[in-house]
Amino acid sequence: MIHSALINVMVAAARKAARSLNRDFGEVEKLQVSLKGPANFVSAADRRAEDILRNELLKARPGYGFLGEEGGSQPGTDGTHTWIVDPLDGTTNFLHGIPQFAISIGLRREDTLVAGLIYNPITDELFTAERGKGAFLNDQRLRVAARTRLSEAVVACGLPHMGRGDLKHFLKEFSLVQERVAGLRRFGSAALDLAWTAAGRLDIYWERNLSPWDMAAGILLVREAGGFVSDGNGNDAMLATGDVVAGNETLHRELLKMLQKA
Ligand code: IPD
Ligand code: CA
Ligand code: CA
Repeated sequence: MIHSALINVMVAAARKAARSLNRDFGEVEKLQVSLKGPANFVSAADRRAEDILRNELLKARPGYGFLGEEGGSQPGTDGTHTWIVDPLDGTTNFLHGIPQFAISIGLRREDTLVAGLIYNPITDELFTAERGKGAFLNDQRLRVAARTRLSEAVVACGLPHMGRGDLKHFLKEFSLVQERVAGLRRFGSAALDLAWTAAGRLDIYWERNLSPWDMAAGILLVREAGGFVSDGNGNDAMLATGDVVAGNETLHRELLKMLQKA
C-alpha cells in the first residue's frame, strides 16, 4: 500500500521501536517465573521504546513538539505540530506476557488531530489514519460496525485501578450497560480498544481518566472509519477531560444516554 510521506515516517519509527519491544517482550515472558518479576525491566523497555520513537520522529520532523508518556512534554520550534506518543500502551498486559499492547503515535496540528498510528508488534496489526483520508488496518480500509441494537453490541470499557478513577461511579455505569448489551470486555489497552472500534470488532468503547497519549491516535482512527467520538458529555474535549466514548452514530448516542443516567 502507498502511504503518504507522513505516515511513512510514523510507520518507520513504530517498526523500529517495535523491534525493541519485541525483544523485551521475549525476555519478560522468561522473567515471569523469577521472584523479582519483570517490573523494573518493563519500565526500562518502555523508556527504550519512547527514546527510539522520539529520535526517529524528531529526526524526520525536527520542528515538531513531542508529548510522550515517559519523557513528558518537549515544545517544538514550529509552534503548530505535536507528536503525542505512548510507546507502550497496555503495560500491565506486557508485564504479564499478554500480547495485547501497542505503540500509539498521534499527530496534532494546533487543536486538530491529523494523523494516527497504532501498532501491535505481536500480531503485526498496523492501524493508520490521516484526517480526511480514511482509516486502515494494514492495507485494508476500515469501517466502524454497522450494528445499531445494543442487545447485539460487544462493548469494551476501562476499569478504575490502583486508586485511579471513581470506582463507585464506574460501577453504576457498568451495571446500567452490562444489563443491556451482548457482551462487555476489558482488554487493557485503550489504544487498541479504539483501533478495534474503528475496525468494527467492538461496537462501542468507553473509558474515563485516560491521558492524551492513550487516545490521540485512536480518536482519529475511529472518526476516519466513520465513527463518532466524544467525551462523557458528548463534547469534543476528550484530551482535556480524559474521558472517551466511541462507536457508530447510533450506539455512540445510546451509550452516552446511559452514561448520563449513571
Ligand atoms: C493504560 C491502558 C489501559 C487503561 C489505562 C491506561 P498504559 O495505559 O491504556 O487500557 O485502562 O488507564 O493508563 O499505562 O498501559 O500505557
Ligand atoms: Ca497508555
Ligand atoms: Ca504507556
